[in-house]
Amino acid sequence: MNRRDFVRKAAIGSAAISVLNKSSRLTAAPAVGGGKLGSFTAVDNVRVGVIGVGNRGFNLVRNLLQVPNVQIVAVCDLYEARVKRTQDATVAAGFDRPDGYAKGEYDYRRMLERGDLDLVLIMTPWEWHHPMAVDSLKAGIHNSMEVPGVQRLDECWELTELSEKSGAHCMCLENYCYFREIMAVYNMIEQGLFGDPLHVYAGYQKESLYYNFNSDGSLSFSGKGVMGHWGNVYASHFAGPSAQWMGINRGDAFDYVVSMGVWGKAYKIYTERYFGDDHQFVKNPPQMADVSNSMIATKNGKCLSLIHDTRLPRPYRHYFRLQASNGIYEHTEKRVHIGDHSPGDWSAPRGLVDPKTGRRERLRTPRREWEPLANYYADYEHPVWAKVADIAANSGHGGGDYVMMYRLIKSMNRGEYPDIDVYDTAAWSSIMETSEESARNRSKPVDIPDFTRGMWKKRDRLPIFSA
Ligand SMILES: NC(=O)c1ccc[n+]([C@@H]2O[C@H](COP(=O)([O-])OP(=O)(O)OC[C@H]3O[C@@H](n4cnc5c(N)ncnc54)[C@H](O)[C@@H]3O)[C@@H](O)[C@H]2O)c1
Repeated sequence: MNRRDFVRKAAIGSAAISVLNKSSRLTAAPAVGGGKLGSFTAVDNVRVGVIGVGNRGFNLVRNLLQVPNVQIVAVCDLYEARVKRTQDATVAAGFDRPDGYAKGEYDYRRMLERGDLDLVLIMTPWEWHHPMAVDSLKAGIHNSMEVPGVQRLDECWELTELSEKSGAHCMCLENYCYFREIMAVYNMIEQGLFGDPLHVYAGYQKESLYYNFNSDGSLSFSGKGVMGHWGNVYASHFAGPSAQWMGINRGDAFDYVVSMGVWGKAYKIYTERYFGDDHQFVKNPPQMADVSNSMIATKNGKCLSLIHDTRLPRPYRHYFRLQASNGIYEHTEKRVHIGDHSPGDWSAPRGLVDPKTGRRERLRTPRREWEPLANYYADYEHPVWAKVADIAANSGHGGGDYVMMYRLIKSMNRGEYPDIDVYDTAAWSSIMETSEESARNRSKPVDIPDFTRGMWKKRDRLPIFSA
């Protein structure tokens, strides 16, 4: 669906928008950084409401409780016990007891109406990301939602429109953007070591089919969310950091995707092993991709290759490989080669053909050597990591969880433009539907909408924010 179709069909009428700002502390922000959207209005102590304090949500709450200048004032979940657990943890950390909301699926709306929230964190199952973000934006409250963001293109457009109209930011809680190595490599790109980032190959490669099932063999929320899909269903972990390296929405933009899925009957094998012969998927294995490969072309002719490979037996391997005009980085090995800097011998061209004799001389490839990324930390550690590494070391995902929360709050304290905005959230989310359409149609190229509507050409790359 393109933007014009969306605008025609969308149900964001003026009546709905008229409730904006009714209950928020948001004030008009100057338009800097990102198109029509502006920086946060600086706030000394960020007042946060959290929705969904299950596994992920409670984990992020524990991180948030260690971040300076923020206070959790409201907690919402379907389960009283989870709300209480979060309230208790907040009090134990030395804060006032947050108010609890646990009166059903839409009780979060009561929380949005309280009028004192600066930020809402949405850490619920996938199907709730979109409605909760929409309601937060309509209330004029900044929100940050868990990955993989939203699932459909019309949802991406709706969030874009609402965020622009309200001035409230809609961000994705993409913790992979905040890994120490990912941020150091971004810093190295910005300092010019790598040259031009040309191709990133990145992929979710781990065995996590368990996450798609409940203990009785029924499908969990993510299991339902991915059922029958042939495209990349969880793109943002790898699209997010890669997009930041490549300057997507900031000097470049996604253009189109081609995608191919491979069916390996993983659900049949898995359910037979763990739930027995009578499981429905043993008799009727769902037809869907067990491995998905997507290649995204950018407007400037670069390429992002994404793999999603989480169903088949395999050891854990998170993969990022950045090939740039002057070097390469490999995340799994945490190693790097910088073309004019790393060890090796490429002083003279090798293996050239002598035009007189036709003979190829000195048939040897240039000898280029890997070196540990750690060699560069002394000069290129991201300033944020240099400051918070000790605290981050105790948090999940290699410290990325803490640094993500730290940056989000810090950018609000200082009144900066957010690191991840609605254009990023929409672009990363949009891969689910576009790759699906491609994979179902013999890998035909499918356009990825430009949610910035051309603003990517003028937007600066993400700054190296200070600690
Ligand atoms: N970034 C990461 O590394 C990472 C890791 C794991 C999960 N996630 C994401 O986090 C989200 C939550 O996953 P999880 O594993 O914590 O799931 P979970 O089931 O453990 O927790 C979800 C919580 O949301 C609550 N909830 C559901 N509907 C609600 C509603 N209408 N109102 C209020 N609360 C509601 C549930 O009661 C539950 O406590 C998902 O989007 C998932 O993709 C991200």
